[in-house]
Amino acid sequence: MPSDDSPSIENLLANNVAWARRVEAERPGFFRKLSAQQAPHYLWIGCSDSRVPANEVVGLEPGELFVHRNVANLVQLADLNCLSVTQFAIEVLKVSHILVCGHYGCGGVRAALHGDRIGLSEHWIRPLRSLCEEYRAELDALPDDDARVTRLCELNVLRQSRNLLHTQVVQDTWDRNQPLAIHPVIYGLNDGLLHQLSEPITSNEQGVALLHV
Ligand code: CO
Repeated sequence: MPSDDSPSIENLLANNVAWARRVEAERPGFFRKLSAQQAPHYLWIGCSDSRVPANEVVGLEPGELFVHRNVANLVQLADLNCLSVTQFAIEVLKVSHILVCGHYGCGGVRAALHGDRIGLSEHWIRPLRSLCEEYRAELDALPDDDARVTRLCELNVLRQSRNLLHTQVVQDTWDRNQPLAIHPVIYGLNDGLLHQLSEPITSNEQGVALLHV
């Protein structure tokens, strides 16, 4: 249950009415136009963390960003949800950019690093435990736990970007010369800034060369 100072659901619904009225007043016909067509150019694959609101972070309006979020922004080949979102975004909506966005201080990454007991999510973040083991020597050489979490958050974005690169849907996209760029980025909870972890990946060869995590 929310604490006493949390807004009630009635508050949220009232907020919604106020927001819809404000938007419509500022831009008459906004919702009517939006309901007729969805044509975003960008797909965001990010963490479910409430502190990383996808649209706000990149200054995009409703209708401009297609979004998939899960705990620790994983791209797994057996995840039909993530794969179908990606396929729909590329093949139907024709998005030409995918942001794979992690964030520093990610709870899922920290739990994987520490081996924390977090219920079902333990199964979900298992690939991160493996990543952690792969990079154990590099992580152990860092001065403290914060530095290890930070580095693992970055490695995670690069690994998930590489997983995305290896999906059939992305390979097929480049095979038919449909433009597509993958952008590995990480968000700073402390300063609200996105940092690029590599240059945009626009071909398989480039991805293989740059994403060796
Ligand atoms: Co997170």
